[in-house]
Amino acid sequence: MNIINTIEEMQARMLELKAEGKKIGFVPTMGYLHEGHMALMKKAKKENHILVASIFVNPLQFGEGEDLDAYPRDFNHDSMIAQQEGVDYLFYPSVKEMYPNKMSVTVTVKNRTEVLCGKSRPGHFDGVATVLTKLFHAVLPDRVYFGLKDAQQVAVVDGLIHDFNFPIELVAVATVREADGLAKSSRNVYLNPFERDQAKELYQSLLLAKDSINKGERDPKTIIELIKKHLNQRCEAKIDYVEVYSYPDLSVIEELDGKIIIALALKFSKARLIDNLILEIV
Ligand code: PAF
Repeated sequence: MNIINTIEEMQARMLELKAEGKKIGFVPTMGYLHEGHMALMKKAKKENHILVASIFVNPLQFGEGEDLDAYPRDFNHDSMIAQQEGVDYLFYPSVKEMYPNKMSVTVTVKNRTEVLCGKSRPGHFDGVATVLTKLFHAVLPDRVYFGLKDAQQVAVVDGLIHDFNFPIELVAVATVREADGLAKSSRNVYLNPFERDQAKELYQSLLLAKDSINKGERDPKTIIELIKKHLNQRCEAKIDYVEVYSYPDLSVIEELDGKIIIALALKFSKARLIDNLILEIV
């Protein structure tokens, strides 16, 4: 595995590989790699000649009060995982390399950010879109891989790729789950045993909603109430939101039709967990 620290070298190597006709699969990360990232890497490895991953904790996507310095980092562990998953090039730039000067141009995301987690993180997705624009230009990938656990981020990246005509295919990868359905997350370790048991109800409530839709329910409000009732009866965690939108444009809908997302967030004592289900309704 080659570790590359500069944009110039990254672009040069990728251009050589592209000239040889190689397809490049890219998994952008902020490090502290876990099974979710590994699933993305495994899929990207299978579908491309070359697997590139990046590790960069992007200051631009952290808001006030979100502690950038406290973000967990462990490069030795991450490079071991990357090696194990067959990463060919690990792009590991410094903040100075990515942002040598204060940016004179940044990307502003106009839609898809005022709902779900974006509501409580103003500017977050602008930072994500800006760093991805830079990373896409450095890595020149044919395909990029993102986890659907963060479905709002996938929706924003879909907008970025289409609106800016990046010649890149976005591959959205299904959420990796524990045996009882809980979405895997580095935050699950913050749950006490009692909360861990209740946390399975996030996915159970989504399955209940799916079942009701399969039986013909088409009213988003009824689905939201059904989920809230299920969670309130079974979890002591505070519901942050339960929302239903069209997907990937994240518009409000009066009736369940076409591709939709049902998304929720719950606050446990030391962890805020999110989950979602994307359904195609015909
Ligand atoms: O999902 C993440 O880890 C980050 O938001 C990303 C896509 C690597 C951009 O910094």
